[in-house]
Amino acid sequence: MAKPRNAKSARSASGAPAINIGIGEKDRAAIVAGLSRLLADTYTLYLTTHNFHWNVTGPMFSTLHNMFMVQYTELWNAVDPIAERIRALGHPAPGSYAAYGKLSSVPDAPARPPKATDMIRILVEGHEAVARTARSVFPVADDADDEPTCDLLTQRLDIHDKTAWMLRSLLEE
Ligand SMILES: [Fe+2]
Repeated sequence: MAKPRNAKSARSASGAPAINIGIGEKDRAAIVAGLSRLLADTYTLYLTTHNFHWNVTGPMFSTLHNMFMVQYTELWNAVDPIAERIRALGHPAPGSYAAYGKLSSVPDAPARPPKATDMIRILVEGHEAVARTARSVFPVADDADDEPTCDLLTQRLDIHDKTAWMLRSLLEE
């Protein structure tokens, strides 16, 4: 088992005790950098999915309108635990369109609503992009013995892999 890091408690500039949870400052910063990208990806995909809930048209309207609602609700609920894990690791959580624009690997929704099958394709690619981001953060958290972040990433990976499969199935003949 790794030796606990920063075993001695210290005071931060704010007067509150410094963070001393057994994950060093450098590791916490590296994990937060990854979680910030995951937060930006998740938020961007949330907004695109809600946009498509509003704007979908065609014979699959009812199915997709409802399916997108389930998906954007899940994504909306996911941003909070990601942001709060960043806070627990001692860093501010990004929460602006400017920050997300820089951090996100998921592109903004197209300016004009695409047709339904293109919406599905865009969402498949979005879920896969978020999955790739979550996977890239996992070894960073794992190497630092950050079990709660590993757990959160595992849950997010399960959802994104599964949602990509479900959406992709709609496109198969
Ligand atoms: Fe609605």
